[in-house]
Amino acid sequence: MSQRIPPVITIDGPAGSGKGTISQRVAKELGWNMLDSGALYRLVALAAQKKGVDFDADDSLAQIAEELDVSFKPCVGGGVSIELEGDDVSLAIRSEDCGCAASKVAAVKPVRGALLERQRKFLGLPGLVADGRDMGTVVFPDAKVKIFLTAGAEIRAERRLKQLKDQGINANLRGLIDDIEARDSRDMNRKDAPLVPADDAIIIDTGKSTIDEVVLKVMNAVKSAY
Ligand code: DC
Repeated sequence: MSQRIPPVITIDGPAGSGKGTISQRVAKELGWNMLDSGALYRLVALAAQKKGVDFDADDSLAQIAEELDVSFKPCVGGGVSIELEGDDVSLAIRSEDCGCAASKVAAVKPVRGALLERQRKFLGLPGLVADGRDMGTVVFPDAKVKIFLTAGAEIRAERRLKQLKDQGINANLRGLIDDIEARDSRDMNRKDAPLVPADDAIIIDTGKSTIDEVVLKVMNAVKSAY
């Protein structure tokens, strides 16, 4: 008896390109599962910080990634709560510092290797929307729909500034642009699984379209593929 392979859509792009928002909207419209792969790298970074492990200690970082005790629990009314060793870290992993630390541990090859199968295990019926940097190039290279979102660093930093302001946190635009550019450079220039569009990816500039327009483009691509 042949088993149906669940469909997968990959949504990759740099920090602040809108991957999270678009992935969640598309997953909701389709009723599919979601993989927030960046959260896994953020969790490795947080776990390493808690254990006092340096970001250049490759073997210890890989062991942390391998043994990561994490659960994603759907919340009543939407959203997901993320627990690390039983503690709710949903907010802690979203800080700028944690994003920057995640980008550092993500450049460690054995960490990426340790997380590969864990990410593939998210694939299940009725389908998966996978959000990250290397979803279409490395983790799900056979995906029928691959999206790559882009936007200028300044636009992405402005979005982040607004998010922080909404949370009552003060930040400075120039500093956020510098952080985003440093993260882009690390994510794009690392040796293993760098941030690049897959050859067959549809590239969408989210700085030039509304969220609704981007969701519509993605949904149209999904409808033509399935
Ligand atoms: O998407 P995010 O901002 O939560 O990701 C945090 C960091 O994790 C990002 O700067 C690079 C790394 N990452 C990665 O290398 N590969 C992925 N598939 C997802 C994230």
